[in-house]
Amino acid sequence: HPATVTGNNAHQVPKWLQEASRLLHSNQAVALPTETVYGLAANALCPEAVEKIYRLKNRPADNPLIIHVASLAMLRALLPDRRIPTVYKDLIARYWPGPLTLLMPRSALIPDVVTCGQATVAVRFPAHPVARAVIAYTGLPLAAPSANSSGKPSPTLAQHVWDDLRERVPLILDAGQCEWGIESTVVDGLRVSPAILRPGGVTLEQIQKVVGFRDCQVYRKNFTDSRLEQTPTTPGMKYRHYSPNAQVVLLERRTLSDDVHPLTNEQEEADYESSHKEFLQAAQNEMERLALTATPQGLTFGLLSVHPDRSLITTPIVPAHCQLHVRSMTDWSKDPTHSDQPCSRHLFKSFREFDQLGVHYILVEGTSEAHEGLALMNRLRKAATRTVYY
Ligand code: TXA
Ligand code: MG
Repeated sequence: HPATVTGNNAHQVPKWLQEASRLLHSNQAVALPTETVYGLAANALCPEAVEKIYRLKNRPADNPLIIHVASLAMLRALLPDRRIPTVYKDLIARYWPGPLTLLMPRSALIPDVVTCGQATVAVRFPAHPVARAVIAYTGLPLAAPSANSSGKPSPTLAQHVWDDLRERVPLILDAGQCEWGIESTVVDGLRVSPAILRPGGVTLEQIQKVVGFRDCQVYRKNFTDSRLEQTPTTPGMKYRHYSPNAQVVLLERRTLSDDVHPLTNEQEEADYESSHKEFLQAAQNEMERLALTATPQGLTFGLLSVHPDRSLITTPIVPAHCQLHVRSMTDWSKDPTHSDQPCSRHLFKSFREFDQLGVHYILVEGTSEAHEGLALMNRLRKAATRTVYY
């Protein structure tokens, strides 16, 4: 832990930090924790180093990377005229360091392989102490996508990075579970009307409260992935992402209004209890339907709830010869005083666990698209092969 950098041994740089720095300065890739997901980092200013990231992840060559910095001075050094666009002043003051990525004008310093020929470069100032320590100590801006194999769910544990990339990455820094468990919000404030290109840790509602972003919209929110497939100007959004091997079936409540967010207050929570029961009933119906199509060996199901474990009051009846594993995406209720914790922390981890358990179908509970529900539903829609309305 970087506490050792600033604690009693302020002059003693820990081994892991020295090793990370040595590797990054010799243009190797290093996996490191951020507050959103684990990243696979390399020197952003060296094309050969950045190319290694694409190769390791098997990432499509037209999907640009985010550059991570540890100070505004470091960002300024990357920009044309060394000026941070004034439109971002308040957003930066409020949400950096944090799970927010901002599109900046690109300077000649940034290699093509980082931006894939875009006129902009995406930049983030992460909050995680390990990520910050590595960037600050190496003094390098780090290009870093999520540290998964392309197409797999993003890694929220060091183990996930190991499972995907093994010894091909020379160093994985392990700092346990990522706080958010979902990637950063990508915002483009350079266009005529500001837009969120990817919903994430910082919510649309929070961004709309900031000067200059009142009219911020989610870019192409209602377009399906197949439409996006034909519009290569929207990098990243055109690929099917976050997919476990199991088929993901999204169970969405027809009447779920965008105004009712399940996790905000007691009354809404009571409403949510009843909608949760409906979800369990819908899941049971779906399991029965799918079981009819199964071989005599039966099927293995995963049930993924947005609500914390304690409210999985009734376990649905599992069809004959079938198996059921239950998981929850969130653990916020374990600390009721801290209700602003992300509700999707265990989403990607659960996908990976279900795959290890040999699950055939993952039945996921949908939620409203208000607040953190927007990023969650964005990831679920991308992962789902089918949506069932109930
Ligand atoms: O939370 C995060 O953002 C994590 C951690 C490691 O920082 N990183 C991450 O990176 O999720 P990645 O590469 O998995 O996703 C980056 C997204 C992609 O959808 C990419 O298309 C978009 O950002 N992006 C990057 N540069 C862009 C640009 N110049 N214009 C538009 N979109 C861009
Ligand atoms: Mg990614």
